[in-house]
Amino acid sequence: MKIVLAYSGGLDTTVAISWLKETFKADVITVTVDVGQPDDFKRIEERAYQAGSWKHFTIDAKEEFANNYVKYAILLNALYEGVYPLATALARPLIAEKVVNIAKKEGAEGVAHGSTSKGNDQIRFDLSVKALYPESKLIAPARIWNMTRDDEIKYAKERGIPIKTESSKYSIDENLWGRSIEGDVISDSMTQVPEDAFEWTKKTKTDSSTIKIGFDKGVPVSVDDEKLNLLKLIQILNSIVGSHGFGRVDHIENRVVGFKSREVYEAPAALTLTLSHQDLEKTVMTPHELRFKRYMDSIWSDLVYQGLWYEPLREEIQHMAEEMNRWVTGEVLVKLEGAGAIVVGRSSQFSPYSEKVASYNKGWYPSDEMARGFIEIWGMHSLLAHKTRFG
Ligand code: ARG
Ligand code: SIN
Repeated sequence: MKIVLAYSGGLDTTVAISWLKETFKADVITVTVDVGQPDDFKRIEERAYQAGSWKHFTIDAKEEFANNYVKYAILLNALYEGVYPLATALARPLIAEKVVNIAKKEGAEGVAHGSTSKGNDQIRFDLSVKALYPESKLIAPARIWNMTRDDEIKYAKERGIPIKTESSKYSIDENLWGRSIEGDVISDSMTQVPEDAFEWTKKTKTDSSTIKIGFDKGVPVSVDDEKLNLLKLIQILNSIVGSHGFGRVDHIENRVVGFKSREVYEAPAALTLTLSHQDLEKTVMTPHELRFKRYMDSIWSDLVYQGLWYEPLREEIQHMAEEMNRWVTGEVLVKLEGAGAIVVGRSSQFSPYSEKVASYNKGWYPSDEMARGFIEIWGMHSLLAHKTRFG
């Protein structure tokens, strides 16, 4: 049997290579998709082979991510629950698609990913794989093996598997559109996020500055009159805005999996572009268009967050958003000054938030079977409609 694994190079997926080999007596093919995370892809490849990968692929999908995914997040002012720009959620369907393409090319029947049974990512991966390669055997090792982080480290040590030494104590996911930070002390909703959790928004500039962003039909095309393609423009904004300390999000988020979690993000370009695009739409649209557009925006963000990339409505909304953005051409001035006022902790005797339920280190985990059943029924409306319409 051959299994294709979505490989990030982190602890979970590194351990998964050898766990899959041992458990399924399989050849494991690893695929790392570059969606703009600041990683050393040569080192990731080396680690994959050292951990037992049979064949490794690195796929540069940065341009595709910018032009076919992030572009729509901008056109639809995507902010889940008003604050989260959806970086992780947006990249999952693209990563799943690349992994499925390799699986089909290599004749692999197994498709594996490193998500746990507590998160949203498993839903996004599972439902994308089910839409694109329904005959495959989906395997989520972390939903089956019941290992804590320490168990994983021990498992790796016993087998001489090299793990990332600079591995963070937080659970991090990064791409072009943002950096998601979870876990460790952050799971306590009143604890202020330690500075060491942040990478992209360390304030190195203290003076204020103003930047001008140019939009053409809703898509950002220039910074301070310099024409840039979308990928480059986002990279530059991340660095300029991040150096002013702007781009942090800290909130209690309603997961698809039935509980609240404390989520922290760094997304300097995403927040700046969403703010600016929203403003320009308001400058251009009639009040009727605007009300309708804001409603579409929130539906689109919910679908993407909830893993329903293959829900037909997601693409239909995109067509409408492009149509409505035909007139959203102009410029927006953004002043970068201080880092604004942000909430850094919260608690309430009436909050259903539970650190024990949310934490990756302790407490309750749904079983693989529970997770599969939940995801299957959750995605049924969308996958049946997708299949009936497109085969
Ligand atoms: N809560 C966010 C989301 O659902 C972030 C997930 C971060 N994922 C990760 N593997 N660290 O999109
Ligand atoms: C995970 O469980 O793999 C990450 C967290 C999430 O998907 O929300």
